Amino acid sequence: MTARFEIQGLARKLRNQEKGGSPYLFAEVSAVIGQPERISVIGASGQGKSTLLRTLALLESPDQGDMIYEGVSYRKYDPRMWRKQICYVAQQAVMLPGSVEDNLRTASRLHGGSYDERLASRLLEEAMLAELDRNKPAGDLSGGEKQRIALIRSMLLRPSVLLLDEVTSALDRNSARAVEQLLLRWQAEEGGTMIWITHDLEQAERTSHRTWFMSGSTLLEDRQTAEFFRQPATEAGRQFIRIPANEATL
Ligand SMILES: Nc1ncnc2c1ncn2[C@@H]1O[C@H](COP(=O)(O)OP(=O)(O)OP(=O)(O)O)[C@@H](O)[C@H]1O
Ligand SMILES: [Mg+2]
Repeated sequence: MTARFEIQGLARKLRNQEKGGSPYLFAEVSAVIGQPERISVIGASGQGKSTLLRTLALLESPDQGDMIYEGVSYRKYDPRMWRKQICYVAQQAVMLPGSVEDNLRTASRLHGGSYDERLASRLLEEAMLAELDRNKPAGDLSGGEKQRIALIRSMLLRPSVLLLDEVTSALDRNSARAVEQLLLRWQAEEGGTMIWITHDLEQAERTSHRTWFMSGSTLLEDRQTAEFFRQPATEAGRQFIRIPANEATL
């Protein structure tokens, strides 16, 4: 496995620091991410998981540290090229103006690639959206439909690294499983890397071989998934997996 993506001492400062608290949302986040890899990101609400992934996709800038993709620092990389390779799929899906079809085509157009109609149809089918009317205004879709269209829109760019932010949170169980399968198949076929935030610990165990546990303003544990769930190395980790994730966020 070759290391393609390395993050070194990444930090994001808090805008409104509480008195006496840490000045960082997260700091000293370092990791070497291979290709292919499947990593899940877990941790209580508000720990900065989304902000970390948005930073990895260069949608936000780090306050400290470096990110190196294929040997080149983000500071020297064309941000558009970076985002084409390292693609963030948001927690709250945002539809672009126009129809479902427009949405599927826009990403390729913006990034200068061709639109792969066959791949789009296959992904729609695998995501249980084969029956969806593609001429429908995208804004009229349900939350779960928007989530899947946003995911497929990103996958059509064929990124090397997919950063997934709770991409099945609005889905019923069957659709969520279908999307899991779709992503696992993509990963096996394309050899890509997925970094996937989830509050569903069973999903984390099912879909990843490496787990990042964010706590205490940093990436507290970076472990093999099976090892983490068997025996977290920290007290915070132990407490987190002993209680259901939805209670851990209270
Ligand atoms: N650059 C920033 N400076 C200060 N605060 C920030 C910054 N970015 C995000 N925040 C705040 O930090 C907190 C963590 O945000 P984030 O959305 O990354 O957490 P999360 O771990 O993804 O939470 P959830 O599990 O609820 O989605 C939020 O309160 C957010 O408003
Ligand atoms: Mg989040």
